[in-house]
Amino acid sequence: MLISFCLNGELKKLNISPNRRVTDLLREDFGLTGTKEGCGTGECGACTILADGEPRLSCLMLAAQLEGKKIVTIEGLSDGQKLHPVQQAFIDYGAVQCGFCSPGMILSAAAFLRQTPEPSRDQIRESISGNLCRCTGYQKIVDALEAAAKIMQEE
Ligand code: FES
Ligand code: FES
Repeated sequence: MLISFCLNGELKKLNISPNRRVTDLLREDFGLTGTKEGCGTGECGACTILADGEPRLSCLMLAAQLEGKKIVTIEGLSDGQKLHPVQQAFIDYGAVQCGFCSPGMILSAAAFLRQTPEPSRDQIRESISGNLCRCTGYQKIVDALEAAAKIMQEE
């Protein structure tokens, strides 16, 4: 099947098996290993990408579903050398430990904060409830997202 889609700002056209999982396509064909596979069954959020601005679990997505979509992975979130405010806040607030959950968490949060400029802490927690972290206890992640929300409001 010939598909075309936009990946991190670049148009891609390729012949591919439509049943290929998007996680595998991104990691193996495009070398975008920031997209992680944790559970592979839609439970952990590590494989989250943005499709037309919405968080999607790439382990549950098939290549055919990419057709015509605008896909952003963690590798495409920054503005050139300038990190996205959520990425920067994760660094500044020590919200990354092993880092396995971080790409998916950051993409989910970036989409949420774009739609919810003044979130409460409860809303922030809810927004990342599909992204599991086994390291941080979430406190620093929520602190980082509160800070990122303020920066995004000012930009
Ligand atoms: S790897 Fe996709 S949700 Fe866990
Ligand atoms: S930082 Fe290790 S899983 Fe979240």
